[in-house]
Amino acid sequence: MTDAIRFLLNGEARVVEGLDPTTTVLEYLRGRERLCGTKEGCAEGDCGACTVVVAEPDDNGALTYKAVNSCIRFLPTLDGKQLITVEGLKGADDALHPAQQAMVDCHASQCGYCTPGFVMSLFALRHTNPSPSREDILQALAGNLCRCTGYRPIIEAATRMYDSGSGNAFDAPTRQTAGRMGQFDRLVGLRYEANGHEFIAPRSLDELTAVLKQHPQAHILAGGTDFGLFVTKQHRRFDRLIYLGEVAELRTVTESTTHVELGAGATWSAVLPLLDRHWPSFGELIRRFASPPIRNSATLGGNIANASPIGDGPPPLIALGASVLLLGPDGERELPLDAFFHDYRRTDRRPGEIVALIRLPLPVPGSEFAVYKVSKRLDQDISAVCGAFALRLQNGLVAEARLAFGGMAATPKRARLAENALVGRPWNAATVEAAAVALARDFTPLDDMRASARYRTLTATNLLRRFHLETTGAANARIAYG
Ligand SMILES: Cc1cc2nc3c(=O)[nH]c(=O)nc-3n(C[C@H](O)[C@H](O)[C@H](O)COP(=O)(O)OP(=O)(O)OC[C@H]3O[C@@H](n4cnc5c(N)ncnc54)[C@H](O)[C@@H]3O)c2cc1C
Ligand code: FES
Ligand code: FES
Repeated sequence: MTDAIRFLLNGEARVVEGLDPTTTVLEYLRGRERLCGTKEGCAEGDCGACTVVVAEPDDNGALTYKAVNSCIRFLPTLDGKQLITVEGLKGADDALHPAQQAMVDCHASQCGYCTPGFVMSLFALRHTNPSPSREDILQALAGNLCRCTGYRPIIEAATRMYDSGSGNAFDAPTRQTAGRMGQFDRLVGLRYEANGHEFIAPRSLDELTAVLKQHPQAHILAGGTDFGLFVTKQHRRFDRLIYLGEVAELRTVTESTTHVELGAGATWSAVLPLLDRHWPSFGELIRRFASPPIRNSATLGGNIANASPIGDGPPPLIALGASVLLLGPDGERELPLDAFFHDYRRTDRRPGEIVALIRLPLPVPGSEFAVYKVSKRLDQDISAVCGAFALRLQNGLVAEARLAFGGMAATPKRARLAENALVGRPWNAATVEAAAVALARDFTPLDDMRASARYRTLTATNLLRRFHLETTGAANARIAYG
C-alpha cells in the first residue's frame, strides 16, 4: 500500500502516483503538467532557469515563500506544500504580477530563457522582503544567470516591482491558501512507492529512529542539493530514500549562555541570522555559499555528511570547536567534528546513523575568529581554499589556536603544526611568519582545475597573515609586513 503525493500546484490540488520518487519537480512540471515556463539549463542548481517557489505555512499560519531549484528537487518533497510556478503568478483578471510587469517595463528580457527563473526569484524577494537594499537584490538574484540582457535592467526591475504597491493575488489571501493546505495534513509520515522504489518521510524523531532501525542501509535525503546531482548527473537510482525534511526536531536551533545547538536539518538560510549575530565572518561566508535557492534547501547536516574536502561548512565549524551528535539505531553519540572526517568522503558515520545536531561553543572574552573563502567567482562558486581561524588571546599571548582548512587535503582538516607554532607565543608578525612556515608543512594539496597546489599553499599562508592584520589593525600590519 503506497500513499499518494498531495500538494497544491499554484491554486489547484494535485494527487500524484506512479512516478519514480526521484522524479524532479522540473521533470514533473514539463513532462506531466506541460507547464513549460520553468526551464532546464544546467540540471545541477547552477543557472536558476528552473527556479520555482515552494510555500509552506509558518508557526503563525501565514505562508513563507522560498525560491528553490526545481531541477534537483524530488517531487515527493512537495507533499503537503504549495508549488508556485511562473504560470501561477498572473491575477484573476490576467494582470501580470508586479515582478513580471516590472521585467516588461524595464526591458529586462531578450531571449527569455532565463526570464521565468528571474521572475520567480523576484517574486520570492517581493513576498519576503518589503524594502530590499541593493545588496539584498543582488543576493536574491545571485543564483540566476542571464547571458543576453545583462543584469542592469533586471536589477532595476527588482526595484520597480515595489512601485505598484499591493493588489496582486499573493498579497492578501495567504492564510486562506495555508488553510487549504490543511487538507494534506498527515498523522504519520508519507510512505510513497513507485517502480519498486520507496520514499519514506518520517514526521518525528521517534518515527525516524524506527525507520532507521528497520532500514539501516537506506539512503538519507535532506535538502537534496548534493543528492539531486547523483540522479541528474550520475543517473543513479535508489531503492529506498529516507527524507529528513519533515522532522521538525531536526530543524531546531537553540541557544544557551554557553552554546548554540543547530539541528542538522536546519538550512543554511535558516541559521544565517544566528551566524551573523555571533560570527559575522561566518555569515559573510554563507552569503557566498551557492545561492539563495540552494541555501533555502541545503542543510548543515548534508554539508557535513557529504564530507566534501571543499565543503564550506566544516572549516569554520571545526575552527570554532564544534561537536557533532550522531543518532542511530543504538542511540546517540557525540564526537568532535574534526574526528568525524576520516579520509576522502569517508566519515565516522555507521549504517543507520544520521548527523542529528551540531553543538558550537559561543565566543568567550579574548576570542578572535574569521573565515575566508577564496574562489574564482564571488557568488555561486566552490572554494579553491577555505580557511578558518579561531584564537583565544590572553595577556597578548595566544592561549588557544584552531586553524581549519578546506581544499587543502582529502578532508576538511586542522593545521596542527601551525597551531602549535602559535600557542604560547605573542600574537605578532614574527609568530605569524613562523606559523606560516609550519602551515606550509601541514598540507600537501592537489593541483586541480580550481587551483594549483602552489597557489593553495600560498593562499593558505596569506590568509593567516590577513587574519593577523585584521585582528591587530591595518596600520600595525603595514609596518609588520611592509
Ligand atoms: C549549485 C550548487 C552550489 C553549491 N555551492 C556550495 C558552496 O558554495 N559551498 C558548499 O559547501 N557546498 C555547496 N554546494 C553543495 C551543497 O549545497 C551542500 O553540501 C549542502 O549543504 C548539502 O546539504 P543537503 O541538505 O542538500 O544534502 P543532501 O544533498 O540531501 O545530502 C548530501 C549527502 O549527505 C547525506 N545526508 C544528508 N543529510 C544527512 C544527515 N543529517 N545525516 C546523514 N547523512 C546525511 C546524503 O545521504 C547525501 O549523501 C553546492 C551545491 C550546488 C548544487
Ligand atoms: S536548470 Fe540550472 S539551476 Fe536548475
Ligand atoms: S534573456 Fe537570454 S539568457 Fe537572459
